Amino acid sequence: MSIRYKSESELAIMRDAGLIAAEILETVCQAAKPGVSTWELDQIARRGIEKHKVTSAFLGYNPGGKPPYPGVLCTSRNEVIVHGIPRKNDVLADGDIIGIDFGIFHKGFCADTARTLMIGSVSPAREKLVEVCRAALEAAIALCVPGNRLGDIGSAVQTFVESKGFSVVRQFVGHGIGRAMHEDPQVPNFGKAGTERRLKPGLVIAVEPMVNAGAPDVEELDDDWTAVTKDRSMSAHFEHTIAVTEKGPWVLTRPTSSPGSL
Ligand code: MF3
Ligand code: CO
Ligand code: CO
Repeated sequence: MSIRYKSESELAIMRDAGLIAAEILETVCQAAKPGVSTWELDQIARRGIEKHKVTSAFLGYNPGGKPPYPGVLCTSRNEVIVHGIPRKNDVLADGDIIGIDFGIFHKGFCADTARTLMIGSVSPAREKLVEVCRAALEAAIALCVPGNRLGDIGSAVQTFVESKGFSVVRQFVGHGIGRAMHEDPQVPNFGKAGTERRLKPGLVIAVEPMVNAGAPDVEELDDDWTAVTKDRSMSAHFEHTIAVTEKGPWVLTRPTSSPGSL
């Protein structure tokens, strides 16, 4: 359990990785419409990977003896929280919400980013869920400054989400990121302000709130990947790769961000 802080030159490479990941994810998101399958979205992401000469962080990933992950995207529709596998028979419909998670390696460093899209016209309840999850990530990003603690991030996300009547998933957490997709430290979306380690310049973390409309409990499907809400309520997920700098947060997977400017 040790954190690998990044140098300025490593951060520059991670920024390039973040921009490429963001560009490919954006292309995928623009193709997400009713009638399009999650398999087709995965194909679009594969073409982006080839075009930019990067590699997938997801394809073949098999932590803890899981079956190797078969896609380059995670496509998590409606009650799927995370790790939905792209499939030809998983077709987007009007009113769906879908989390799309994408990660790459570029010059030895990883970028990991996700967002939840609303397909066509979505019910107000689903729209609120998506907006609360998005806003929870923004609140967390603003706290990625030196001196704050990991518990401040978890507490802010949990307090905000629960104040809106939703729940945060405990079983999956954000993470340090760098030469590996998943590095120390863990970054939970729950916790207590003023606890856990302090953030220092050079720390890079993927912050990724997963918000359920109902209970926080998770069930894994028989494919050993797909994580759904136990009560089958809707779930949303947003993620950015964020560097802590002396100037403040730098959202590496957001093109308009620069150190200290969200
Ligand atoms: N990108 C996910 C995360 O945010 C992990 C996906 S693992 C995969 O940490 F194998 F499903 F791709
Ligand atoms: Co991710
Ligand atoms: Co992640």
